[in-house]
Amino acid sequence: MKKIAVLTSGGDAPGMNAAVRAVVRAGIYHGMEVLGVQRGYSGLLQEEFTPMTLGSVADTIQRGGTVLYTARCEAFKTEEGQDRGAEVLRNHGVEGLVVIGGDGSFRGALALHRRGIATVGVPGTIDNDIACCDATIGFDTAVNTAIEAIDKIRDTATSHERTYVVEVMGRNAGDIALHAGLAGGAESILIPERPFVMDDIIRKLERGVSRGKKHSIILVAEGAGKGMEIGKYLAEHTGFEVRVTVLGHIQRGGAPSAKDRVLASTLGAYAVDLLRTGASGKMAATQNGVLEAVDFETVFTTPRQPDLRLYELADMLAI
Ligand code: ADP
Ligand code: F6P
Repeated sequence: MKKIAVLTSGGDAPGMNAAVRAVVRAGIYHGMEVLGVQRGYSGLLQEEFTPMTLGSVADTIQRGGTVLYTARCEAFKTEEGQDRGAEVLRNHGVEGLVVIGGDGSFRGALALHRRGIATVGVPGTIDNDIACCDATIGFDTAVNTAIEAIDKIRDTATSHERTYVVEVMGRNAGDIALHAGLAGGAESILIPERPFVMDDIIRKLERGVSRGKKHSIILVAEGAGKGMEIGKYLAEHTGFEVRVTVLGHIQRGGAPSAKDRVLASTLGAYAVDLLRTGASGKMAATQNGVLEAVDFETVFTTPRQPDLRLYELADMLAI
């Protein structure tokens, strides 16, 4: 394989740059020409290609976001869009493509694979919602950002003796809430994977107060409900003073953690190895710490959940 391309797609995630850098440097190391496609599949359809040199990814390993830009592209969900994408890549002499993104981006990559373009996916999303991998790039950083915010909220919650509801991202997955809730010492964690009853949350809050707790933090995954509505319900059904914080997109930015940089560098280089050895239609991942190439179909059909043992643990420790 002489010419490959790399793109980032879907929501950006800290560590995507480290993954792009690894693809570019590993590709060039192995004697390949590497093109960057800007703005994900949207840029692919618009032929937004840029040659990637060793220097083009200098000083990017520590930067959040993605230097290739990212986009969501409805046109690429259609057969015509996917046909056009494969044609564009062929016209540019691209034999292999690395797609850094989440589940949706991998569906686009699978469509290209089926059209004869060798494609490998690298899991990059803060949501950690991809099956068959230990973690997605960006998740660790997002959790660290969330606990930094929770620690600060705890200071003011303690001072004012208030109840705080903190809503975190995750789309339909509760991973960020679960990990940040456990690491941040939250009293309750609401995630979509675990049905909850508001009366139980209230009883727990009241039990805490009766044994002398002066403040509480309730972590809500966006997939489990709206922080504002949950805060309003709690205020109306208890005598507590409640405040709500929606962390929002700060969870998507910032310098990637060491863990995310290592994961991104490892998977980016591995994706190039997979293309070099003729693999296609697969996700580059670590499973139990070991590098694995997993068929996209397997990724899409394997059910996944966060580690619910952490949920039980957090519940026990917040007694
Ligand atoms: P993520 O990759 O983070 O899950 P999205 O779900 O928004 O993010 O998907 C990113 C992009 O991937 C979409 O805007 C679209 O261009 C492409 N995509 C998503 N789903 C499909 C699909 N079923 N078939 C082809 N391309 C898709
Ligand atoms: O997939 C990453 C993510 O940040 C989700 O956690 C969230 O639901 C969504 O993207 C937000 O999307 P947007 O950036 O388009 O508001």
